[in-house]
Amino acid sequence: MYNKNGKYNTKVTAFGKFVPETIYDNAYFESIVDTKDEWIVTRTGIKERRILENGATSDLAVGAIKDMVRRFDVDLNTIDLIIVATVTPDMFFPSTACVIMDKLNIKSAWGFDISAACSAFIFAVATARSFIESGASKKVLVIGADKMSAITDYTDRNTCILFGDAGTAMLFEPTEDKEDGFLDQILFCDGSGGKYLYMLGGGSLNPATHETVDKKMHFIYQDGKAVFKVAVIGMADVAEELMKRNNLKPEDVAFLVPHQANLRIVDATRERMGIDNSKVMVNIDKYGNTTAATIPLCMIDYYDEGKLKKGDNLILASFGAGYTWGGIYMKWSI
Ligand code: UT7
Repeated sequence: MYNKNGKYNTKVTAFGKFVPETIYDNAYFESIVDTKDEWIVTRTGIKERRILENGATSDLAVGAIKDMVRRFDVDLNTIDLIIVATVTPDMFFPSTACVIMDKLNIKSAWGFDISAACSAFIFAVATARSFIESGASKKVLVIGADKMSAITDYTDRNTCILFGDAGTAMLFEPTEDKEDGFLDQILFCDGSGGKYLYMLGGGSLNPATHETVDKKMHFIYQDGKAVFKVAVIGMADVAEELMKRNNLKPEDVAFLVPHQANLRIVDATRERMGIDNSKVMVNIDKYGNTTAATIPLCMIDYYDEGKLKKGDNLILASFGAGYTWGGIYMKWSI
């Protein structure tokens, strides 16, 4: 159980999102690989994805931060820590956190990137909580952003139909109200799952060469069936466990906020929680799998549609490369 003995809890105080304008719909994929709209919709739930044609992950993040400032009038130079959840950093180094600070002239913060693939937002929030609840930080900005199109092989029908680009920003601050904000979390890693979902090239194991390019080692590889089997169990397990140990009945949960990789995985998690379809946040149809951005993008979309309300109990759940997986139980604070 997460240690809640400290003085502070952590709550969301501001947020923003950015999705690029260019849309790749299923018809587009029918024109470039051997696939069908019907296969994509029934196997995954995806209809469209947004693609950033020019720019990098930091630009998705900057777009989201600017949206946050428009909505909440945040003074960026009061932020003391920036954590960027991404599997598509602009470069290996400097960190995307540093690039973002430079682009927005933020001088007040330090920061770093977190690599946990589709679970990176949940891992980043857990990290932000530790800084806030220990008293080390007062305003932590978590970015969930990925330009998946930069590492997608658009000749591989197994993966290219799945991913899209998006950026999100969420600001976290301390609260002395122990019933508000983040209330519990569960996090896991299992490195033995690494062989089923990875990008082999470009790191110190396989530095970039003509051969790594020829062998397409700078793109995502996924054994979809293998990942599917464990993702279904992992996401449902953490969601169920969070409900059990916090004595939450299905009627106490306002929304499940699941990582958006596959509608069938989302549905299996919902079933195990015993909740109705109307209590599941879904936007995979509009954006596909945007990796670190899916969970915060869901929350912001539902807020914008007037469905997510202050005080709502949320169960966040994710599963991704690593394997990494986890969940968060929180109360929405805005
Ligand atoms: O976000 C990080 C974690 N990732 C996940 O959670 C993803 C988990 N996996 C999945 O979501 C699913 O496994 C996929 C959507 C990737 C694939 O769905 P599936 O039902 O597991 O399909 P499959 O891989 O078992 O393939 C079934 C068939 C194969 O053909 P054969 O071998 O049965 O003749 C594939 O070649 O579907 C074929 N296929 C396609 N057909 C049309 C694979 N991709 C496509 C495609 N269009 N785009």
